[in-house]
Amino acid sequence: MVQPRLYVKLQLYPMRKQTAADMPYANVSSKQRLFGETMRRDAWWVQPLFVFLGLSCFLVYSTWAAFQGTHYWLDQNGADYLSPFYSPELFGRSPHAIFGPKPGWWPSWLLFSPALLVLWAPAGFRLTCYYYRGAYYKAFWADPPACAVGEPRKGYPGENSFPLIVQNIHRYFLYLALLFILVLAHDAWKAMWFSDASGSKHFGVGVGTIVLTLNVVLLGGYTFGCHSMRHLIGGFLDEISKVPVCAKGYSCASCLNRRHMLWAWMSLFWVGFSDLYVRLCSMGIWHDWKIF
Ligand code: FES
Repeated sequence: MVQPRLYVKLQLYPMRKQTAADMPYANVSSKQRLFGETMRRDAWWVQPLFVFLGLSCFLVYSTWAAFQGTHYWLDQNGADYLSPFYSPELFGRSPHAIFGPKPGWWPSWLLFSPALLVLWAPAGFRLTCYYYRGAYYKAFWADPPACAVGEPRKGYPGENSFPLIVQNIHRYFLYLALLFILVLAHDAWKAMWFSDASGSKHFGVGVGTIVLTLNVVLLGGYTFGCHSMRHLIGGFLDEISKVPVCAKGYSCASCLNRRHMLWAWMSLFWVGFSDLYVRLCSMGIWHDWKIF
């Protein structure tokens, strides 16, 4: 059977007036590739595989940790640490709870964990991130598994129709993510103040202080380099703002944006590790070392 051919014209910069006979043509087959079929010779599957493993590990751990509802804060040896998965703690058993313990109206049949009240916001921000979308479309949906590699479906609905059009909500999740940066920065500040035997607070640094502070720095690098942040700080314009402060903010956000993938992975790993650190210290498996 003769395969249909697609003739692509390669436009050159002419040194002289060209005739039709001069125009070069590339002979490209438009045949639909089978799933995984490709002419690529490199190990194209390595990156989607690592993305799949990395995101799967984080999803399993964070879901498990969010449902625990215990060991999410540390108030031993004067330290005052709160896991970022549980912050801000609206209701809960720790001294960090803003509105007190679990509310009476909470249905008795429904599992309660302070993390479930807040974790949807940062999770939604990550899930709709432009970088993660590209990564998990490839790694989880194989749509396509990599550039120039055959995918398991024929159509491409894109993000212009339901359900993927919902991904546009990302710009609104950004506002929530910015609030979370403030909250986590406040937690890191509180982690710098240790209680002594008399109950008075004094400045200090423990390993947990460094862990929680670095968490804010990495999450900040990720959030402030967001594509929507560039648009927001650039003044909602489709061209670089003429207002100096907006133009400067835009270039700072763009600077972070150039390494957005790196910030995304570092902050993802570290926020999970921050929860693990507080959890293991709270369980008595690790001991927080107060440096000074
Ligand atoms: Fe990644 Fe907004 S594009 S956080």
